Amino acid sequence: MPTKSFFHGADWNPEQWPEQVWAEDLALMREARVTAATVGVFSWSRLEPTPGAYDFGWLDRVLDGLHEHGIDAVLATPTASPPPWFTQAHPNALAMRRDGVRLVHGSRDTYCVNAPAYRAASLRIASALAERYARHPAVRLWHVHNEYGTWCFCDHCARAFRGWLRERHGTLDALNEAWTTDFWSQRYTDWAQVLPPRATQYLGNPAQELDYRRFLSDRMLAAYTEQRDAIKQVAPQAQVTTNFVLGGWVPVDHARWSHEVDLVAIDHYPSSLDGAPAQSAFAADAARGWSAAAGHGGRWLLMEHAPAHVTEDGVQRRKPPGMLARIALAHIARGSHGAMYFQWRASPGGAEQWHTALVGHPGPTTRVFDEARALGNRLATEGRAPSYRSAYKKVPFLTDQPAGPGPEGGGSGTARAGAAGRGEVAVWFDELCGWAVGASHLPMPVDYQGVVEGWHRALWRRGHHVDVVPPAATLAGYRVLVVPAAYLLSDESARRLDEYVHEGGHLVVTYLSGIVDEHLRVRGGGYPGALRDLLGIRVEEFDPLPSGAVITLDTGDAATGWTEHLTAPSAAVLARYPDGRPAVTRREQDASVAYYVSCALDEAATARLLDRICAAAGASPIVPGLPDGVEAVHAPDGVWLFNHTDEAHEVAGRQLPRGAVARLAD
Ligand code: GAL
Repeated sequence: MPTKSFFHGADWNPEQWPEQVWAEDLALMREARVTAATVGVFSWSRLEPTPGAYDFGWLDRVLDGLHEHGIDAVLATPTASPPPWFTQAHPNALAMRRDGVRLVHGSRDTYCVNAPAYRAASLRIASALAERYARHPAVRLWHVHNEYGTWCFCDHCARAFRGWLRERHGTLDALNEAWTTDFWSQRYTDWAQVLPPRATQYLGNPAQELDYRRFLSDRMLAAYTEQRDAIKQVAPQAQVTTNFVLGGWVPVDHARWSHEVDLVAIDHYPSSLDGAPAQSAFAADAARGWSAAAGHGGRWLLMEHAPAHVTEDGVQRRKPPGMLARIALAHIARGSHGAMYFQWRASPGGAEQWHTALVGHPGPTTRVFDEARALGNRLATEGRAPSYRSAYKKVPFLTDQPAGPGPEGGGSGTARAGAAGRGEVAVWFDELCGWAVGASHLPMPVDYQGVVEGWHRALWRRGHHVDVVPPAATLAGYRVLVVPAAYLLSDESARRLDEYVHEGGHLVVTYLSGIVDEHLRVRGGGYPGALRDLLGIRVEEFDPLPSGAVITLDTGDAATGWTEHLTAPSAAVLARYPDGRPAVTRREQDASVAYYVSCALDEAATARLLDRICAAAGASPIVPGLPDGVEAVHAPDGVWLFNHTDEAHEVAGRQLPRGAVARLAD
């Protein structure tokens, strides 16, 4: 059987099938060299058919079957989908929308995380699972819940929100100050007046909205840690995680959550077929960044991705032949401890009956299953996939090997060391900025994550090994740090950026950064208040362009969307707007360099600017001059190349057939 050092497998829902199919599934899993299956994710109504009465018999047989076949279980708690008996008994534990509509049963995630009955029932089923399976030999990893991120605005939430606000702000006066409640006569005189940001007549209070997201993130984290601790109480050695869903719509601060999991695990579903390689690289680099900043050495796991399609504008675009393995291996090269899919076998009915699977509706005699089998073989063959043996050797649950001495990777240290290395270039990514930008009434709608991904993509295309770092990351050692649209910047973050520059780093700050403090209050005196002195500039006015308008800077570079009116009292001007005003600046003081980019440059212009900045900072690409669509990744066992195009390319003297994945040195 394959080595346990990689997770290769999928969500498996045997409860949806008669038991004869399980035997076929297990045999097929062996054939595809599956090492792990995630089970139990949505099986609450099967595990606890009536309140307090458990039916574990079927799960016993599932876990025993996996173990007999040498396959590990990632055992989920089923709390993302309470059964109908629960909601019938506790109608006020159903989620309430912003507009006061109470949702009804019929999908998943229809619960309120602050409802005491939901929390108690969740803890009960998680504890019962832990009691029964903590010592089951198949269980390698616990997977609490599924994709935390559910919203609710009910009275349970209102009560809990007030408690949370009291802890955060102390007094009503402090809350009034933080939320700027003198605007539109919102001054609170009694805690009972404070509510979740429910539907209201016109614009809501952005600071209230931002605190509500922070609050939901903390409350869901408490729900997670409650279950985690119940599992660990029974089995202190148990490894516990939950799967993060990337996307600004979930009120979950993943950087903070990363401290509470034993292995950072993400699900990733790109939004465009052509954009999938770059989007996957971003998600992988973000997961690695969260893991490293939380002290996990950069280790992480791709817990879910789709086997055979990418949903683009509501259309399921089929992944062309070869893409299944290429995307999985690209995640692995970026530090994922394997590649897991949603899902193993396609459901015949139910809400996701058309979601692709490794074993689709036609059965295993398909191109997709052939590709999954080939990938399984490849992962199990030494040298044919990026390897993390050295980087992960201290973590027994990730490898077959006993714990032993060895270099700990990722968190800090020299460039390109450890789990998937540490890059020379980093991009700052703070999900709270995305919430802040989304929750406010800005001069122009800005897609925060889109802006960050744009800068990441430009570096990725130029063949740089990029780290995506949360604000708490260690910044020292990066030659270049790009801070895109960091609208919300705390005093502490501003101080750390200042320190980074003064220690010799090359900082690149873009428009819409350093504008507001943690309560969304604008820092006065000229934008960007938090970084004005560091950058040597002062922005007086924002001047967003109408949709579709393009302006050409004196360098010939094109800009769209955001522009600004600024002066550069202590910075050199690298590019000017057509009327001669500064557009891109550079401040050099002693060994420190800080750039400011006041407009949304197009991709080519961004790339040219980054080339110049990286060359000046001594940050070199892994492989220079990569053809468009070819990706280079620095894994611990060398440089891996991914040809995402339909043509053959020659890279650094190596022939790379279309769609190929190869190690540079081989
Ligand atoms: C994930 C979720 C899975 C499944 C999948 C479909 O976000 O965790 O349960 O719904 O999406 O793409």
